[in-house]
Amino acid sequence: SKRKKIAIIGGDGIGPAVTREAKLLLEVYRDKAGLPIDLWELDLGADRFLRDGTTFPKEIQIAIQRECSAVLLGALGDPRVPGLEHARDILFGMRFGYDLYANIRPVKALSDKLVPLKGRGAKDVDLVVFRENTEGIYVGMGGQFKRGTPDEVAINEDVNTRKGVERIIRAAFEYARSHGRTRVTMADKSNAMRHAHELWLRVFHEVRAQYGDISSDHVYVDALCLYLIQDPSKFQVVVTNNLFGDIVTDLGAAFQGGLGMAASANVHASDPKRVALFEPVHGSAPPLAGKDIANPFAALLTVGMMLAHLGWPDEEKRIERWVTQAVDEGQCTVDVGGTLGTQAAAAWLRERVAAEL
Ligand code: NAD
Ligand code: IPM
Ligand code: MN
Repeated sequence: SKRKKIAIIGGDGIGPAVTREAKLLLEVYRDKAGLPIDLWELDLGADRFLRDGTTFPKEIQIAIQRECSAVLLGALGDPRVPGLEHARDILFGMRFGYDLYANIRPVKALSDKLVPLKGRGAKDVDLVVFRENTEGIYVGMGGQFKRGTPDEVAINEDVNTRKGVERIIRAAFEYARSHGRTRVTMADKSNAMRHAHELWLRVFHEVRAQYGDISSDHVYVDALCLYLIQDPSKFQVVVTNNLFGDIVTDLGAAFQGGLGMAASANVHASDPKRVALFEPVHGSAPPLAGKDIANPFAALLTVGMMLAHLGWPDEEKRIERWVTQAVDEGQCTVDVGGTLGTQAAAAWLRERVAAEL
C-alpha cells in the first residue's frame, strides 16, 4: 500500500513543544505499529522569518499539496513579529491555498472533571462545530483610508458566496448523517447582516430540505452563546461562518477543559484525498513558551483526528481513551488539574498507547 507523507510545522511559542510530543506519538505509530507514514519536518515560523524573511514559500506550498496527505501544525504567532505576517501567510496559505473549506472542531469533554458548568458532565458536551474556513470576513478584502488621520476609516468586507455557503452547510449535514448525529444547527447574524447572512439563511433552508432524516434549526449566534452555556447537550452539529466559528470554538474549549484540550481538522470535505491540515485550536500562548507547562493533549488529540482521517479511526478512539484516563488519574498538566510538565504528560500517554500496539 502507498505510504502517506505528513508535513510537520511546529511554529511559534508553545507550538514546537507540543508538536514535538505529537511527532513522538506519530513515530510510535510508524515504528511500533508499522503505519505507513513518513514525517517531513519544516522549519517555518517566526524564528525563520526573523532570520531570513521567509514566510511560506510557493515551492513549499506546492510540494505539500503534491506530496503530502496531511500537515500537522503547532501554532503561529510571536510578539517579535507584531504584524503576524508570517502567521497569516502560513496559516491562510494552507487554509485558503488548499481550499480547506471545512474547519471541523469537536467540542467534546473527555472527563467529567473538565466540565466547569454547574451540574453538567462529559455526557453533556459532545458537539462538532463546522466552521467555514475559506471566506467571510477573513478574506482580507477592504482597506484603510486616510490612515493615521482623525478621519481614518478601516474596512474588512464579509464575503460570502453561494458555493462557499452551500458546501459548508452540506458538509455539516453529510457529517451528521455519517456520524449518527440527528440535529444540525446553523448560526448567523442574518437579523443584522442583511445581505451576507440572508444568503446563509436562504441556503440553509434549501439544503435542509434535502436531509429529511436530520432535524435542523437556525439560531442567531449571540443567542447560540447563551444556549451553549445554559445547556450544551442541546447541540450536536453547529455550522457557522469563519469568524463566528473561531469565537464559538474558544467558548466551546472552556467546556472541554480549556484550549489545551481542543483539537481541529481543516479539510476539503468533498474530496478527503486532498491534503488536509490538522492543528490544535489553541495559539502559541507566548507566556507559557519554554517552560514545559503547556498542555500537549490538544496536539495529541489532533494526531488522533489526523489518523482517523488517514484511515485509522480506532487510533483516534485509543488516544481519546488514554487522554480521559490521564485526566482522571491526574497524569496531566496543571491547566487540567495535574502536576506534570508537557513532556511527562505526553510520555505517560505515549507509553500506554505504545504498550497496546
Ligand atoms: P492562545 O490560544 O495562545 O492562548 C489563550 C489562553 O489559553 C491563554 O491563557 C493560554 O495560556 C491558554 N492556552 C493555550 N494553549 C494552551 C495549552 N496548550 N496549555 C495550556 N494553556 C493553554 O491565544 P492568544 O493568547 O489569543 O494568542 C497568542 C498567539 O497565538 C497570537 O499571536 C495569536 O494570533 C496566535 N494564535 C494562533 C493560532 C494558530 O496558529 N492556529 C490560533 C490561535 C491564536
Ligand atoms: C485559530 C486562530 C486563527 C483564526 C488566527 C491565528 C488567525 O484564532 O486558528 O482559531 O482566527 O483562524
Ligand atoms: Mn481561534
